[in-house]
Amino acid sequence: MGIKYFKKRKIFHLYSKNFSYYIGINKLGYLIHLYSGNYLDDIGIERTNERYMERYGFLDSDLNKEVQDEDYYFSIIASQFECASFGKGDKRNYFARFKREDGIDITNFIFKDYKLIKGPVFPTGLPHPRFNDNEACTLIVVLKDEFSDVILELYYVISEKYEVLARFSKIYNNSKEKIVLKRLSSFELDLNNNNYDIMAMHGTWSNDRQVERIPLNHSITKISDNHGSRGFNYNPSIALLNKEANLDNGEVIGLSLMYSGDFSYEINVDEIDQTRIICGINDENFEYNLEPNESFTTPIGLMTFTNKGMNKISQIFHKLCKERIIPNYDRFKNRPILLNSWEACTFDFDTDKIINFIDEAKKLNIEMVVIDDGWFGNRNDDTSSLGDWNVNENKVNLKKIVDYCHSINMKIGLWVEPEMISPNSNLFKEHPEFSLYPKTYKNPTLFRHQLVLDLVNKDARNYVFNELTNIFDNLKFDYVKWDFNRFLTEGYSETLNKNSKLETYHKFVLGTYDLLNRFITRYPNILLETCASGGGRFDFGMLYYSPQIWCSDETDITQRVNIQYATNLFYPLSANGAHVSNRKIGTIQDKAILAFFGTYGYELDITKLNEDDKNKIIEFNKLYKEHHQVINDGIYYALSDPFSSNYASFMAITENKKEAILFFFNYRKETTKSRFIKLKGLDANKYYFNSLTNDIYKGSFYMNVGINLSAPLDAFTTALVVLKEVDPIKTSIYKVMVQNKPQKRTKLL
Ligand code: DGJ
Repeated sequence: MGIKYFKKRKIFHLYSKNFSYYIGINKLGYLIHLYSGNYLDDIGIERTNERYMERYGFLDSDLNKEVQDEDYYFSIIASQFECASFGKGDKRNYFARFKREDGIDITNFIFKDYKLIKGPVFPTGLPHPRFNDNEACTLIVVLKDEFSDVILELYYVISEKYEVLARFSKIYNNSKEKIVLKRLSSFELDLNNNNYDIMAMHGTWSNDRQVERIPLNHSITKISDNHGSRGFNYNPSIALLNKEANLDNGEVIGLSLMYSGDFSYEINVDEIDQTRIICGINDENFEYNLEPNESFTTPIGLMTFTNKGMNKISQIFHKLCKERIIPNYDRFKNRPILLNSWEACTFDFDTDKIINFIDEAKKLNIEMVVIDDGWFGNRNDDTSSLGDWNVNENKVNLKKIVDYCHSINMKIGLWVEPEMISPNSNLFKEHPEFSLYPKTYKNPTLFRHQLVLDLVNKDARNYVFNELTNIFDNLKFDYVKWDFNRFLTEGYSETLNKNSKLETYHKFVLGTYDLLNRFITRYPNILLETCASGGGRFDFGMLYYSPQIWCSDETDITQRVNIQYATNLFYPLSANGAHVSNRKIGTIQDKAILAFFGTYGYELDITKLNEDDKNKIIEFNKLYKEHHQVINDGIYYALSDPFSSNYASFMAITENKKEAILFFFNYRKETTKSRFIKLKGLDANKYYFNSLTNDIYKGSFYMNVGINLSAPLDAFTTALVVLKEVDPIKTSIYKVMVQNKPQKRTKLL
């Protein structure tokens, strides 16, 4: 069990093999954050939170004399908490805030009780790690507000196996009056120093995730999103890196909110150099009414610590996601190589064209064809029909296509965008109230000519679910691409009364989760890929329902490399929808080897390719099949960061360290440079053959000297290097001995 309670000292120790998290209850009943970081036994732990009264106490002593007498070390303005009060003297950022009927919104939660539970405890309806009972345990700390009968429960679910602490909170209104919740955070993390940078990802369409390392200074840094259900702009996964930390060394804290709506990380570096992180639903579009006996539960936040650099954080999140977040990972382990119709046709296709694609795809050993946008209603461009989910029989015969595909042993997929409604649709004519905006408002904002469906409205949800079942009960599709092409504006559901309008944004996310849950429960064998104008909704909330997410509409290799590199920092390669297109930058080969490091597929008109490219595609497909297991299931290492260097390089290696595969790419031309790519995670004593120079070296050589790329490189050179363990006795030992001979690189793939 990863939780110990030291009763006499009133200290909780939550731990996994690599980290410890200590919480104390002080004499006044405040929940104090004592320590988080490398694994520590409990010696002297109480003293980590001292704030000497001589120095910092002078302000407190005026505030509250008995505080000093009770607990000499306590300081409401400077101590580290688990749920900081609001309005009491702690002027840093706060954990919870609600307004009572008397108009007062001070909150101060005092310890009442705790429960230790074997096994994980999570709320229903919200994405969370699917830990087995023997893989996690839960601490629930119960606190009561000093000024009201409002109860706060803090949940800590720790998994030693997955090296992750999952946190959320729940508030109960036990009072006799209504309260209006203005903020309830998922977690707070108070750190006793300010030696951190934030690593965060921002982006926009076609530039989906861009990494920035932001030094923290004495201010409040906010990484947040307010678009309702799309995290293009900022991503809900971030890391705090010790100033000295890098990919492989140093202390890093990985954080992620499993939520696909507005989120916020408020990071406050205070005047005495402490850092406080408050994470949860962004309260800009949030307010929640709680009548007596009602409760509210936050989304789940994930937290992990390491002293082994960012790569370790990526590995922890990848493993957790593959094994305990994604539904049915094993069922969808072997993802089919797909061909998507979008870039080849956009809306311009018919039955024959798709059948042609299927025939050609079959010849090239592509395994699945996906019919993208444009098969329903009158949808021949993006101005209409979202909501009218009936097949456009004049344009395409889906039954014929599905049957044909299956008859030749291929798979078939379909695009949908269930969370939207076009003003130009039958649905809007019949049910304008299903669209999300106040109907007193005459000019709702359109993006891509569409409105958002009001998923707070149960009838709208049932309507769209029935439409989906009409299609997928009757036509046996193997895959669905679930798109989402605009963000929320004027987000006030007509189903909510005037005092509850600000519940819309959160309830919309819950509505989406409900719809997704119903879909995957009814169709457990359909492979679901979510998408939001590319990767505009890439988070662990979505991955709880869909094993993969379309990473980006951008497929030019230069831009894509950075987007995939950034995505891999937190999300596993198996989740990363990646296709080869015929965009102008990069050869088909460059794009293919980059797409290998995701779920592989194509997004171009394969019927128009020349024979040479067709043969290449056959070769790529074979290579992908040979190696995708290493990429999907292997351990990931970033080798070179394209955001801060001329190179992007990353690799994956099997757990038994027998096989590895490496990607390399450079931006600028380099005519002369001493350049070695050092590999990671190999067995130092094993011998590996590498496909770049056809040589055999020891693992220690690859990791300490590296693969020699000191040759003139043109701009945009890509390399795919496969390493396989070999037996040096059976293989030519001579090659092993002559490691220093000049390299004879012939081809890079
Ligand atoms: C946005 C997606 O990212 C594209 O791949 C495509 O599916 C279009 N939507 C279709 O409208």
